[in-house]
Amino acid sequence: MNISVVGLGKLGAVLAGVLADRGHQVIGVDLNPAAVDAFNQGRAPVSEPGLAEMVHGAAARLSATSDIGSAVAKTDATFILVPSPSGPDGAFSLKMVLNAAEGIAKALREKSSYHLVVVTTTVMPGSTGGEVLPLLERVSGKKCGVDFGLCYNPEFIALGSVIQDMSTPDMLLIGAYDQRSGDMLEELYRSVCRNQPAVARMNFVNAELAKISVNTYVTTKISYANMLAEICEQVPGADSDVVAAAIGLDTRIGRKYLKGAVGYGGPCFPRDNIAFSRFAELQSVDATLAKATDQVNRRQAARLAERIIRVTPPGETIGILGLSYKPDTEVIEESQGIMLASHLVAEGFRIVAYDPAAMNNARRVLGAKVEFADSMEACASQAAVLVIATAWNEFKSLSPKHLRQSNPRPVVVDWWRILPEAAFEPVAEYIACGRGPSEARGGQMAFAADGVARSV
Ligand SMILES: NC(=O)c1ccc[n+]([C@@H]2O[C@H](COP(=O)([O-])OP(=O)(O)OC[C@H]3O[C@@H](n4cnc5c(N)ncnc54)[C@H](O)[C@@H]3O)[C@@H](O)[C@H]2O)c1
Repeated sequence: MNISVVGLGKLGAVLAGVLADRGHQVIGVDLNPAAVDAFNQGRAPVSEPGLAEMVHGAAARLSATSDIGSAVAKTDATFILVPSPSGPDGAFSLKMVLNAAEGIAKALREKSSYHLVVVTTTVMPGSTGGEVLPLLERVSGKKCGVDFGLCYNPEFIALGSVIQDMSTPDMLLIGAYDQRSGDMLEELYRSVCRNQPAVARMNFVNAELAKISVNTYVTTKISYANMLAEICEQVPGADSDVVAAAIGLDTRIGRKYLKGAVGYGGPCFPRDNIAFSRFAELQSVDATLAKATDQVNRRQAARLAERIIRVTPPGETIGILGLSYKPDTEVIEESQGIMLASHLVAEGFRIVAYDPAAMNNARRVLGAKVEFADSMEACASQAAVLVIATAWNEFKSLSPKHLRQSNPRPVVVDWWRILPEAAFEPVAEYIACGRGPSEARGGQMAFAADGVARSV
């Protein structure tokens, strides 16, 4: 199929690459000349594992332009993947989507063949049918369901594994105007997916609600795990990993996203809860659960900072490993490592930080307040207290010999529990998230009438 993709950012560039990789002819569209030039030269405009090789390999089927009209004219379907930034009230702005839709509609005016428009950008429920559709019809002078089709089709991806997530999704969520639009998109995806995902087809508003509900539900699990970890830390003998592993065996709950650690971050999760709460408010409903999830999340960086401050002599050096909001990405939006660094700097500590990919982005935000080490080892060797804030695979190879030698017993705050505790305990104070006082761990516990656990 001939396909155009409007917005060549972290998501759009990968979708364009994956479609071209599967044999489709793809024209990317972006206002940013650097993104357009990159595609036309066979380079990836954004950094994402596997994308550079994929774009290079599919270069013959991939081009880009800043002219949305010519891209629509030459293709049968157009995906919109432009940003929808959060407004002051937390709702997603539809401005850029409408701008892109207007460009598409102008081109549709001149087009005689059927064209499928797909909104993939995250939007507020009600946007596709309530605003995008009327604009497309008004500006193009054409009729949806006759001259063109329309779908809302969000992606469920995580930065760092976007190619994999797009290739083997759990489900395809398709909000379609009519049977024809939905069939055309579903057929296209059959050529993209390496698996046989479940297909959930519905109207626009249900798909919009489902998209935002997935993210708010997943974050509820994360905040639950963090709340559990916080409680376990007060209970002698408790270990939130043990509890989470047990409750995760219940098929009603499942194991994923139940690991207590830092709060969730990134460009989607934090803002999705706020937008969902705002949407509920507009329906005169109080989304108590979404608000609580956000509230628990917002205190995680401060909570970790307090834990570190308790074990760090004033003015000492704290090493932070991990500044990206998750492993395998350079993105630092709402990164807990960055928030942690800011908290600790404000308390007067010297911070040395290292991240395998996010150093440049972190430098822009943290500036001279923080020192940056060239490697994990260089960071560890300077720190009286070393914290793992992001669970990069690379950090698993940290060895006790990399720790600061001048300290008789440096502290290792392994917040994600990725290090071999037995190897570190002989030489360092090992602290993990979600564990009660260690002297009682493995011992007997009794619960008094007041409900407080005490080791016996
Ligand atoms: N990044 C994620 O993890 C993720 C995950 C799921 C959903 N989403 C959603 O996907 C959408 C896009 O996210 P992203 O991370 O790729 O954004 P991004 O900021 O990385 O990229 C957006 C691109 O769109 C371009 N653009 C803006 N207006 C344009 C226009 N009118 N015409 C052509 N190009 C235009 C920008 O120049 C930029 O290159 C957002 O709504 C986001 O909510 C993102």
